[in-house]
Amino acid sequence: MSPFGRRGETRRRGRLPGDRRAPRRGPLVIEQPEENRPGTLSEGLGRRLGAKGRFLAAALVIGIVITAGVIYFERRDVAAARDADPGNLAQVGHGASLYRQHCAQCHGADLAGQPGWQGTFAKGNRPATPLDGSGPAWRRSDDDLFDIVKYGGQPFSPPHYRNRMPAYEHLLADGDMWAILAYVQSRWSADTWQRRRDLPPAS
Ligand code: HEC
Repeated sequence: MSPFGRRGETRRRGRLPGDRRAPRRGPLVIEQPEENRPGTLSEGLGRRLGAKGRFLAAALVIGIVITAGVIYFERRDVAAARDADPGNLAQVGHGASLYRQHCAQCHGADLAGQPGWQGTFAKGNRPATPLDGSGPAWRRSDDDLFDIVKYGGQPFSPPHYRNRMPAYEHLLADGDMWAILAYVQSRWSADTWQRRRDLPPAS
């Protein structure tokens, strides 16, 4: 018999008129079970959960509140960030989803760029370059990368050249762009970072 059935039966029998007043006639008399006495919902729940359950429920509620707080403050920090920190999981996570939304269609879900990026189109411009260690992007300073994303490639190109990298100034907040760069940089290998450190200082 399922425990529910047994409990239901107990309750039914417990509610029989006159049951509680019935003289005790040995083992057949059923005491009103504790859990069936009237009380508030939370009292009933508390009794049903038991001490251990109550502790776990309280721990769960506290855990949810702390997690919500951490997420709130992390989001605020990410939005306010004015640099890229590839070790910051919240920033990288935010950047990863924005990258998929705004950049992956050209630079590739794997950051490998468009095929034939080393060449140029007939009109003179070139396909999207890789943003991983295989393109020129890692050679640029954080500020230069940021400016290219914010203002697009054109302001940094010779006048005759048509640069197809769009500007995100009116689409994304600064914190969003830094988050995308943090994600991109989180994908750079140790080897790429080493090569970047070995670059001669920009003059
Ligand atoms: C419409 C296609 C397209 C989209 C979308 C796009 N890019 Fe680009 N991006 C390009 C092209 C093309 C270039 C190369 C421009 C050139 O060198 O002529 C480029 C260049 C860059 C560069 C310079 C890389 C280098 O090799 O020096 C960065 C950084 C960059 N993009 C970041 C991003 C980020 C971040 C996003 C998303 C917010 C993004 N791009 C979205 C097409 C795109």
